[in-house]
Amino acid sequence: MKINSIRKVKRLTGKKVLLRVDFNVPIENGKIKDEYKIVQTLPTIRLLLRHRCKIIIITHLGQPGGQKNDKLTVKPIARRLGVILNMKIEFIDGCIGLSAGTAIGKMKKGEIIILENLRFEPGEEKNTGKFAKELAKYADIYVNDAFGVSHRAQASLSAIKNYLPAYAGLLLEKEVTHLEKAKRSADPLILIVGGAKIKTKIKLIEKFKNKAHRILLGGALANNFFKAHGLETGRSLVDEESIAYASKRGCENLVLPIDVITENGRAETRVKSVNKIEKDEAIFDIGPETVRLYAGFIKKAATIIWNGPMGRFEDSRYKHGTLAIARLVAARSTGRAFGLVGGGETVEALKMTKMIDYVDWVSTGGGATLTYLEGGKMPGLEKILY
Ligand code: 3PG
Repeated sequence: MKINSIRKVKRLTGKKVLLRVDFNVPIENGKIKDEYKIVQTLPTIRLLLRHRCKIIIITHLGQPGGQKNDKLTVKPIARRLGVILNMKIEFIDGCIGLSAGTAIGKMKKGEIIILENLRFEPGEEKNTGKFAKELAKYADIYVNDAFGVSHRAQASLSAIKNYLPAYAGLLLEKEVTHLEKAKRSADPLILIVGGAKIKTKIKLIEKFKNKAHRILLGGALANNFFKAHGLETGRSLVDEESIAYASKRGCENLVLPIDVITENGRAETRVKSVNKIEKDEAIFDIGPETVRLYAGFIKKAATIIWNGPMGRFEDSRYKHGTLAIARLVAARSTGRAFGLVGGGETVEALKMTKMIDYVDWVSTGGGATLTYLEGGKMPGLEKILY
């Protein structure tokens, strides 16, 4: 596989670059709560700055559905990026039209402009050629550094490539290289899958069912398997539709929790064996015996892929299972095993352990990482990977 990397552009100096990033970051009261995605694109931005390019940054934020929504303006991101890079960054209140065109026309070499949220324009999510053409007018080349949204067929990721020569940014290149490495995985491969919704993880489990030595399950998605095996799940989250999948799925290499942490109707927490759950209990975390069982597999892994928390880790009473797995994954990664972690919540949990740097690759993608690992369609990578 080859990547049409930004590093291969001849005579990059001074070019007008339309840089698509995924700055879909959590913002509360105008403050960015997690800037991991922004920080990860800095190498590409700095490379373009060294070449005195005129950089036009475009991103989506949230899902405004083709309408302007003041709560989803990218203005706070423009401000923050200016602080990080210690330079003036102009924010344009719109992504096509007169003000954007005029501001871009006045740009000097080595300057950066950020355009308003792409998804305020209906043409973005509809992947229209018309909208893509409007964006393409601004630049000489297009660079995709937005791996996290490259599973979407949207104008700034897909149609745009009909109008401009397209290249991968440095982050996109790294994401693909590391995910490919995980796909080629050395044995034994341990896949850890958690989270609430099994529906979003079925393809991943199926893709790796013959490859993985063990698939360790946790989070609410494991409840469907308990139910399928005829166990009581009380008030725990189960998804009736997915129970059918769980009962069909053979169990050769799937490993389920053997104990869990529950909360009963009186808000009391208990460590329970999975066959002792009562009707008024809900499962919120994996238990210590399960951590010990999973540790045995993780400690022997040569490749570890982890997506999805083991429970409701945002509540300090139910964080221990997820954080224990995070520490085990981090401790085994970088050297003895190749460790890859993806998904917003999983990365958040990993950060809580302060061991994020121990993991070989922490992907900026959630759905995109899953789609890539499953071998699904990635419209944003077409014409860039070949
Ligand atoms: C993400 O946060 O996963 C990406 O930015 C994609 O966002 P989306 O699911 O709204 O397309």
